[in-house]
Amino acid sequence: MELQGKVAVVTGAASGIGLAAAERFVAEGMSVVMADIEAPLLKEKVARLQADGAAVAAFVLDVSDAAQVAALRDFAVESYGAVHLLFNNAGVGGTGKPTWKTTPAAWEWVIGVDLLGVAYGVEAFTSLMVEQGEGHIVNTASEAGLCATPMLGAYHAAKYGVVGLSETLVMELAGTGVGVSCLCPELVDTKIFESTRNAPAHLGLPKPDHVPIEMLESFMKSKAIDPAVVAGNVVDAVRSNSFWILTHEVSHVRAQHRNESQQRGDTPSMLPLNGAK
Ligand SMILES: NC(=O)c1ccc[n+]([C@@H]2O[C@H](COP(=O)([O-])OP(=O)(O)OC[C@H]3O[C@@H](n4cnc5c(N)ncnc54)[C@H](O)[C@@H]3O)[C@@H](O)[C@H]2O)c1
Repeated sequence: MELQGKVAVVTGAASGIGLAAAERFVAEGMSVVMADIEAPLLKEKVARLQADGAAVAAFVLDVSDAAQVAALRDFAVESYGAVHLLFNNAGVGGTGKPTWKTTPAAWEWVIGVDLLGVAYGVEAFTSLMVEQGEGHIVNTASEAGLCATPMLGAYHAAKYGVVGLSETLVMELAGTGVGVSCLCPELVDTKIFESTRNAPAHLGLPKPDHVPIEMLESFMKSKAIDPAVVAGNVVDAVRSNSFWILTHEVSHVRAQHRNESQQRGDTPSMLPLNGAK
C-alpha cells in the first residue's frame, strides 16, 4: 500500500514505538490520529507535530474498552474521511511476578490492554477497510508471542494471543485488499518497563518504582534498539504487504529453537539468550 495522502490511526502513540511510528507516518505524507491513555503526554506530542505543520489529531482512550475504540474509529473518519492504516500498538508489560502469583487485577489489565485492545481495534476498523477495498492492519505482538521466558506469564498469554489472532485475520482477509502484519520486536528502548504508570488506580497495581526494573534497565541500555528503527520496519512491511515483522535476528533463532524443541517433545526450558542454540 502506498502511504502518501492516506490516513493512519496509531494506538499507544504518546510514547515509544507508537510515537516513532506516528512521526514516521507523518514523514511519509500521511494524516495521523494519535491515540493514547496518557492524555497530557499525548497532547504535548500532538501539539509539537502540529506546530511543525503535520496533519495529526489526538484522541484519548483506553483500548481495553470496546466502546472507546469504536469512538476512535468514528473520530478518525470524521477528522480525515477514511482510515487506511491501523497500528494496533498500545500495550503494557508485566508486573514481574511468577505466573502463579499474578493477581486477577494484573491479568485483567494485561489481557485487557495487550490482547482485547487489539481485538477491539480489529473489530472496529476492519469492516470499514473491507468496504473501501483497501487498508492495512499492523498488530503489535512481541518476540514474547513466539517463545516464552519466566516471569511474564500474562504478557506471553496476551502476545501469543495477538500472534494467533493476526494469523487468523490474514487468512480471513485474503482477497479483500486489506493486509495484515504482526510486529514481534525483542527489546526496544521505550518506557515499557514503566507500564504500570498507566494502570487504572482501582486495580491497585504497584507503580513503576515498586516494580523490580533496575536489573532490566542496564540490559535495556546495552541491547534495546531505537523505536525509529521499528517504525521503519513497520513502513517497509505495509508497503510490501509482509505479515511477519521480526526486528531482531535473534528472534528467528529463538523461535526456531522453540519449534524444534516442541517437535522433539521436550519440556520447555530457558531459551538461548545470546542466539546460541
Ligand atoms: N519496548 C519493547 O522492548 C517491546 C518489545 C516487544 C513488544 N513491545 C510492544 O510494543 C508496544 C508499544 O510499547 P512501547 O515499548 O512503545 O512502550 P511505551 O510504554 O513507551 O508505549 C506504550 C504506550 O501505550 C499507551 N497505553 C498503555 N495502556 C493503554 C491503554 N489502556 N489504552 C491506550 N493506550 C495505552 C501508553 O500510555 C504508552 O504511550 C506494546 O504493545 C508492547 O507490548 C515492546
